[in-house]
Amino acid sequence: MKVDGKDTRTIWVESDGKSVGIIDQTLLPHRFASVRLKTLEDAAHAIKSMQVRGAPLIGAAAAYGVWLAMLHDASDENLERASAALLATRPTAINLAWALDEMLAALRNRPRPERAAAALRRAYEIGEQDIAINLEIGRHGFKLIEAIASKKNGARVNVLTHCNAGWLATVDWGTATAPIYLAHDKGLAVHVFADETRPRNQGASLTAWELGRHGVPHTVIPDNTGGHLMQHGLVDMVIVGTDRVTAQGDVCNKIGTYLKALAAHDNGVPFYVALPSPTIDFSVSDGLTEIPIEQRGAEEVATMTGKTKDGRIETVQVVPDGSPVANYAFDVTPARLITGLITERGVVAASRVALAAAFPERARA
Ligand code: MRU
Repeated sequence: MKVDGKDTRTIWVESDGKSVGIIDQTLLPHRFASVRLKTLEDAAHAIKSMQVRGAPLIGAAAAYGVWLAMLHDASDENLERASAALLATRPTAINLAWALDEMLAALRNRPRPERAAAALRRAYEIGEQDIAINLEIGRHGFKLIEAIASKKNGARVNVLTHCNAGWLATVDWGTATAPIYLAHDKGLAVHVFADETRPRNQGASLTAWELGRHGVPHTVIPDNTGGHLMQHGLVDMVIVGTDRVTAQGDVCNKIGTYLKALAAHDNGVPFYVALPSPTIDFSVSDGLTEIPIEQRGAEEVATMTGKTKDGRIETVQVVPDGSPVANYAFDVTPARLITGLITERGVVAASRVALAAAFPERARA
């Protein structure tokens, strides 16, 4: 998508041909800067520290991390070591394991001298595939927005989203945002309520930033506001992203997604989840018991970082000294609360039968 009129992606190969560029998302929204990854360790650090984040982008970054590892040492041992190190960075988004499996499948049986070039090719393909998938998600989701717009006689469609499942969370376009960008670009009146998404504020810092840069009307709301808006008919639909969808259609996403699904269900607001097929984990069924939920550091809850009036970036403590905090990063929304899954193959029901019918090759594997 565009940043200051310039087409920008979240990850790219640098012109030196031996390093990877990323947008450092920990600096947004107040600074837009890139970081150069030169080693496997740089890539693992970028994922762990959330310089790159969002399920599809984590997968793409891990793929490039394997390439960086192969540039330095293309041995079997280093391939396995790199894959294990990257896999250990974050536990919940299945795209990470998916991308690493893809890289291992492309490299394991290759002679060493060919591995670096093959790794670069496969990593690039994974990124391109992500963009193509997201565009298809956009086309299918656009029809949903268009149908609501026509029911409202062209009045603006209000979409609520949680966290950041925008282009910053992918290589480009985003998942939840792809239908929104397409609708906006085609001239439909669309407005987004962006949940701020404590504790890391991906909605306030990232979703609001990218929507603003693209000119999409939006309003940042505190996390507790969505239910109130839905009770008053101010939300036409919810579209969120996901880090892992189970074979039976349960959806794991950023903490707080479940509460929005409950509120949407109670108020008859359609609740959609946008996802690329690599986010489906057919090896698990029950999202509540089978998906590892990342628990992150206390400082993310105990502090907030922002810009002071004189332009300095400062972090302040918002809880009393010594108060314990809990920081569960994700929750699970059961399939029964989901109106539909917006995939690259169309909008499918959140059910075992529908998912297996839409992605038979993945379900069988
Ligand atoms: O902890 P994060 O910022 O990586 O969490 C991101 C999310 O929960 C997104 O909604 C999800 O990865 C889908 S991204 C298209």
